Amino acid sequence: MSDKQNGQHQADSQTGASYQPNQSPQVNLEKRNFLIATSAVGAIGCAAVAVPFVKSMTPSERAKAAGAPIEVDISKLAPGGKLTAEWRGQPVWIIHRTEEMLAKLSAHDEQLSDPNLEVPQQPEYCKNKDRAIKAKYAVMLGTCTHLGCAPNESFVETADWDGGFVCPCHGSKFDLSGRVYKGSPAPTNLVIPPHKYLTETTLLIGEDGEVA
Ligand code: FES
Repeated sequence: MSDKQNGQHQADSQTGASYQPNQSPQVNLEKRNFLIATSAVGAIGCAAVAVPFVKSMTPSERAKAAGAPIEVDISKLAPGGKLTAEWRGQPVWIIHRTEEMLAKLSAHDEQLSDPNLEVPQQPEYCKNKDRAIKAKYAVMLGTCTHLGCAPNESFVETADWDGGFVCPCHGSKFDLSGRVYKGSPAPTNLVIPPHKYLTETTLLIGEDGEVA
């Protein structure tokens, strides 16, 4: 299997880092654990990353938690809507972006830390202007790349901001492609997991591929 196919070792030409969909390469776990243990403010809202209920799982559930790909039906996901699936114990966001949302995404590159996706937080087939296989569907892990908190589920928009997601822990902001805004404590864009389309409206999360 090639590096591109397994999605695990896509070397970044500038940083030498690799695409690691199961962990945020910029997150120092020791530092994170220390901060969560010692910072009352920082700990609020932070989701535990452990999976404490493994013992109660059936064998198929354990296989799923261990990393088996999951199918997600997006046929009922309306334009402007978002759903959350779970893969490897992590939330996977799927956002059905409208034409209006997509147009706004190309208008604020100068406000972003990594608008051109230099840090390998996505498979190669998502390293494009929409950060997606199909422009209208964004797929990303809903886990902040700062200390691993869960950004707010709902996206917000204000007069001075094109809109996106805010992490309540320390205020990191991400756009509807999961790209982080400058000034956020999160160092990198949200991770895009390996995925592909089995049909027009069925996604397989956890396996590389492009359009069905
Ligand atoms: S965990 Fe600190 S901003 Fe998200």
